[in-house]
Amino acid sequence: LLFGAGIILIGFASASDYKNYDGFKILEVKYAEPRVRRYVQEIEQHLGFMPDFLGENWKLQQAHYFIEKDSVARVSRQLTANNITHRMRDLNQNIFKVRKRRDLENSQVTIQDVNYRYLNYNEQMQFINTVAQQFPNTVKLQKLGNSYEGRSITAVRIGDDGTNKPIVWIDAGIHAREWISYNVALYLIYTIASEPAYRDLLSSVQLVVVPNTNPDGYEYSRTHDRMWRKTRSRFTNSRCGGADANRNYPFYWGTKGVSHSQCSEIYCGTRAQSEPEVLALTNAIQREETRIKGYIALHSYGQEILYPWGHTMRQYPSDVQDLIQVGQAMAAAVKAINNTEYSVVNSGDGLYPAAGASDDWAKSRGIKFSYTIELSPIDDETGFTLPEDRINQVNREAFQAIQVLMIEVKSRF
Ligand code: ARG
Ligand code: ZN
Repeated sequence: LLFGAGIILIGFASASDYKNYDGFKILEVKYAEPRVRRYVQEIEQHLGFMPDFLGENWKLQQAHYFIEKDSVARVSRQLTANNITHRMRDLNQNIFKVRKRRDLENSQVTIQDVNYRYLNYNEQMQFINTVAQQFPNTVKLQKLGNSYEGRSITAVRIGDDGTNKPIVWIDAGIHAREWISYNVALYLIYTIASEPAYRDLLSSVQLVVVPNTNPDGYEYSRTHDRMWRKTRSRFTNSRCGGADANRNYPFYWGTKGVSHSQCSEIYCGTRAQSEPEVLALTNAIQREETRIKGYIALHSYGQEILYPWGHTMRQYPSDVQDLIQVGQAMAAAVKAINNTEYSVVNSGDGLYPAAGASDDWAKSRGIKFSYTIELSPIDDETGFTLPEDRINQVNREAFQAIQVLMIEVKSRF
């Protein structure tokens, strides 16, 4: 559909090669009751398979799962038989439609774009190149490696002046469908680099941002399947491809909250670091791990600041109080902007532990303040497809949280 003002509505959902989700449902279970919470924590045993967990609404205490068309009836029967009150919500595929300004396609990508629309991978790379050219003394690009399909995984180093300052490392979008995370990372890069107010902070803390850690998956999610989560690696003799890169890190790899089946959304890969994306990231972090004092993996959705350990339940690092305290300071800074609430919780004690994730691995390498942030939304149907007119606010809120971590690292190291 082409509109007069040069605005094109790309109905990805209606494009013939874009995966159609007719008949799919979002399963909502309210887990406030302890009995139900236990059931949800053991949902894999109850259903005989692990449903695709989307996120949760901790305010309403609801867990959200994505249920394939062919499983809807069976899952519903199973839950009813176990006396689990639930709702099968229709998937509003309209939310998959993304507005795109045609006149911006081949022109300069600006901070305006980062705040008001989702960018494709080339646009993201164009943006960081422009920022690096604009602030050559502050911003340097570093290639960490290539994705499975050969796209460059690039780190943006801000305030790297060759000294031994402590580093805060941020990476975004290891899960392809969590689109808002890429915008948050790009906004962070631009804001820290361009605003004089942060020069002082940058003189004592260096920031490294990897704005797109899973470019193959992201492009696939834009062009073929809005719900794609994994990498795009291919396996011989398998009808399914891709591994969950956030189950592929070399720490308790392949244990809890993972699947060894290639068709699963949480397939942990053939071995730890089998995914070239994970190998590139772990190598790069290890090269300077003694300097890295803060690590955040940006994900969506659920408005949560998660701290380790997450590979199992009820196990915490010895300095967990520091992680909680700084996590709460981050949440408070977010809330101060527009009253948006993030909850600070242990990543393993929630609805499911998950081993082989980047936050646990980073913590295991001695990076003190290691977190996963599940960005907005929490309380609406849009999930991964946060409407573009809300990108800007999430960018600004997440920026505050990251700034708090940088200030904390500056004062402690
Ligand atoms: N939603 C994220 C995932 O499934 C959460 C990871 C949290 N960290 C953890 N170690 N469990 O990958
Ligand atoms: Zn995620």
